[in-house]
Amino acid sequence: MKLLFIGDIVGQPGRYAVKTLLPKLREQHALDFVIANGENSSGGSGITPRTAGEIFDAGVDVITSGDHLWDQKEVMELLANEKRFLRPLNYPAGTPGQGSGLFEVQSLNSKGYSPGLIAVLNVQGRTFMQPPLDNPFLLAADEVKRLRERTKIIFVDFHAEATSEKIAFGRFLDGEVSAVVGTHTHVQTADEQILPRGTAYLTDAGFTGPHDGCLGREIEPVMKKFLTGMPQRFEVAKNRVLLHGAVIEIDDASGQAIRIQRVSQSLI
Ligand SMILES: [Fe+2]
Ligand SMILES: [Fe+2]
Repeated sequence: MKLLFIGDIVGQPGRYAVKTLLPKLREQHALDFVIANGENSSGGSGITPRTAGEIFDAGVDVITSGDHLWDQKEVMELLANEKRFLRPLNYPAGTPGQGSGLFEVQSLNSKGYSPGLIAVLNVQGRTFMQPPLDNPFLLAADEVKRLRERTKIIFVDFHAEATSEKIAFGRFLDGEVSAVVGTHTHVQTADEQILPRGTAYLTDAGFTGPHDGCLGREIEPVMKKFLTGMPQRFEVAKNRVLLHGAVIEIDDASGQAIRIQRVSQSLI
């Protein structure tokens, strides 16, 4: 099967890019499943039922999130009712929502279309990250063991800042999951690879939105904050809108990755 993972969708330009570009990418790569990180989809900060609805309507099957989870209070509705919306797994027990999910997928293989299950897992790193969550390594290992009783096709969005933590996390799950792709830094890395035991890995998928700015925001207020230390309102930038992510091909029977290819698609 082939899946597309879309890096952090930033604001209206990011949502527009997904809506406009996803049909073409689906055709071009013969995609069976689409996952997107939506933590910045509402004005650059957080997610609401409305922005999640737009992303689902554009053809995304599952939305993951990260440290911007709580920025919009309407997220509570998603956490309570939307099974296709994931928050980082490693919040304390009792936190609303879920960190993983099992989803049906019809994938095209040598025998034609066959039904299967894909597990999606969302985990947050701890190095240079707020708030401090429970140990992502230990919790992910337990969760992956549980998920593997149902399917070998497992995708992990590891939302983290430090490249060292992300690489160690990918190596930790190598052979246990189909793919580990990082999010959060909004800068796409060029280290896509299949790890020795068959897990596709990319340190960061990048972000989907306006790249003529600072990580999706207008440059001036960000620069002013660095120069003065004073808080600023960070508006979403406008220009050079790109969809960032990765296409991953997975062997249905073994759950191992066959190929990973970075995506950086311009609106024009
Ligand atoms: Fe983000
Ligand atoms: Fe983040």
